[in-house]
Amino acid sequence: MRLGINIDHIAVLKAARKVGDPDILPALHIAALSSADQITIHLREDRRHITDYDARRVVKYSPLPVNLECAFEVLDIVCELRPHRATLVPERREEVTTEGGLDVETHFQRVKGAVERLKEKEIAVSLFIEPRKAAADLALRAGADMVELHTGRFANLYAALRTNISHAPYMPVEFAAYSRESLANEIAAEIAKIRKTAVFAAEEGLKVAAGHGLNYQNVSEILQIAEIEELNIGQSIIARSIWIGFEEAVREMARLVKG
Ligand code: PXP
Repeated sequence: MRLGINIDHIAVLKAARKVGDPDILPALHIAALSSADQITIHLREDRRHITDYDARRVVKYSPLPVNLECAFEVLDIVCELRPHRATLVPERREEVTTEGGLDVETHFQRVKGAVERLKEKEIAVSLFIEPRKAAADLALRAGADMVELHTGRFANLYAALRTNISHAPYMPVEFAAYSRESLANEIAAEIAKIRKTAVFAAEEGLKVAAGHGLNYQNVSEILQIAEIEELNIGQSIIARSIWIGFEEAVREMARLVKG
């Protein structure tokens, strides 16, 4: 299993004070020395964390392959930077983080066009999709090399089952009404969807990744799915870095992910 480290949250800290500290370049080398396989960054249209300046330097200096998450709006710069891979993600300005997978059905022609453009530049293309067979099928037809399955709903359900729901301030409200039994059933159903989509995508020749909301506790469930060959994890690793340092936080996750 490959581990991609999403370092956006280091840039979030930098953007909070609008100074150059903490710089993200040291993270590239520490991640490489700590058994990570890939650096993931998201160049958002509003540049709220990773900037063009950061993206340029990451692609230029990273000792690891760079997976650049992007929406259609930033394709020009992605084609110019030519990272190892681009992951097309949906983006809504008001969202805190990428809340859902790409709606490949509605935007099929636009997705196909973007895939072609990126591949012309020899950039491998992944699509961040909901764990649904239909979405993986459309990704295949759009010419993608890979799909990344959105694990956000699974992660939220997992957290809901293990917290005192009424006291968890960030819990999606829909889950507050669920009984423990129904949360457990929903988790099982979501895992089944992730597995089914991963099996289908892999059989069709797509590479399969997963990510969003994965952490040191819930990752074990996703690791059971053999067809998933890569995880992209950010928030939980950067959060843990505050307590034990970035190097050890990456190593801990790498040990879990690689066994
Ligand atoms: N994969 C994709 C496509 C994402 O958009 C994100 C969040 O930027 C991640 C993985 C990492 O999610 P998290 O920070 O919750 O680990």
